[in-house]
Amino acid sequence: MRQVNVALGRRSYPVYIGSGPLAQTGSYLRGRGFAGRLVVITDTAVNKLYGAVLGKALEADGFQVSTLEVPPGEAQKSLERAGKLYLALTGVSAERTTPILALGGGVVGDLAGFVAATYQRGVPLVQLPTTLLAQVDSSVGGKVAVDHGQLKNMIGAFYQPAMVIADTGTLMSLPEEELKNGLAEVIKSAAIRDGAFFTFLEENIDKINSLDADVLEEIVYRSVSIKAEVVAKDELDMGLRRILNYGHTIGHAVESAADFKIKHGQAVAIGMVAAARIANKLGRLGQGEVNRLRVLIGQAGLPTEVPNLDVEKIMRSMQHDKKVRGGRVKFVLLKSIGDAVVTDDVAPSLIKEVLTGRK
Ligand SMILES: NC(=O)c1ccc[n+]([C@@H]2O[C@H](COP(=O)([O-])OP(=O)(O)OC[C@H]3O[C@@H](n4cnc5c(N)ncnc54)[C@H](O)[C@@H]3O)[C@@H](O)[C@H]2O)c1
Ligand SMILES: [Zn+2]
Repeated sequence: MRQVNVALGRRSYPVYIGSGPLAQTGSYLRGRGFAGRLVVITDTAVNKLYGAVLGKALEADGFQVSTLEVPPGEAQKSLERAGKLYLALTGVSAERTTPILALGGGVVGDLAGFVAATYQRGVPLVQLPTTLLAQVDSSVGGKVAVDHGQLKNMIGAFYQPAMVIADTGTLMSLPEEELKNGLAEVIKSAAIRDGAFFTFLEENIDKINSLDADVLEEIVYRSVSIKAEVVAKDELDMGLRRILNYGHTIGHAVESAADFKIKHGQAVAIGMVAAARIANKLGRLGQGEVNRLRVLIGQAGLPTEVPNLDVEKIMRSMQHDKKVRGGRVKFVLLKSIGDAVVTDDVAPSLIKEVLTGRK
């Protein structure tokens, strides 16, 4: 079992990483002083796979468990679903001290987290992430949200969990597509902050793709360590935390130009390679490093080229991104593999040049 601490003063919390800790959730909760009633929020697919293991473990430790299920899918991250969950929480007599356990991927984590942040002005939240993306990214850092209208993650809060338990054993049942989706964020973490980790990924990509248990545990541990360090330095996303958006400026625009028919991880992969080409054209990143990034992303089964989409549409949605301030698009650029900077000094003509693949 590995442990990473997210150092945020009184709101600090541990992230437990390893194969199997889901079955020890009860003792971890007891160790943090929780007792009595608790509520698990999960989706139907994850509940079928892991609901019984978790429920049994919690009951064996003396907890009274109520489980609230939602259907899988991004559409559940809505105010409407949150509203139903508030009523269901009242229905099971959840109180201000009743913890909410979010068992599932990033959708469940963001939704249950949003509900935990707002129900009775906030109840304790425990993240039990079961996708690679949720383990390395969404469960750590305290961003919780629902979507509203056309806009993703528009209604939300910063609300740190009391604890995160990332059971890498749950990744064994993950569909291949979902593994790749999370791998994009793993590669991103290494690229912006840890060159040695990037080399580890290059050397172990075959083991990652074949779900080697030790290697999976290692990549979750190292990705969480990077996120924890960045979040501890900039909890509210005012500076350093923006480097976590590497590949996301173009990525989000590609996702939205594709009407969200392309997965987030694929869009981020495309965005990372495009941003590396931009950095190269600006003389900041060597061609050899652009190639290393492109090769690793390809070996992870992720796309590296901008799909055949309307470039004007991509450019327009980039302008609408919520991270744009004063009309300038914020870009994260690599200075080298393992080191990133944030800049708003990328000319639209250069972005367009890279998107259209013109030399
Ligand atoms: N809060 C943050 O900082 C943050 C960061 C990144 C992404 N996000 C959010 O995360 C969401 C995406 O999360 P996701 O990629 O985990 O998607 P998801 O939660 O939709 O899960 C993907 C699918 O995998 C299934 N699943 C989950 N665990 C499984 C398992 N162990 N075995 C088999 N199937 C399993 C789910 O039922 C679902 O159908 C988005 O809404 C995004 O906005 C949030
Ligand atoms: Zn992302």
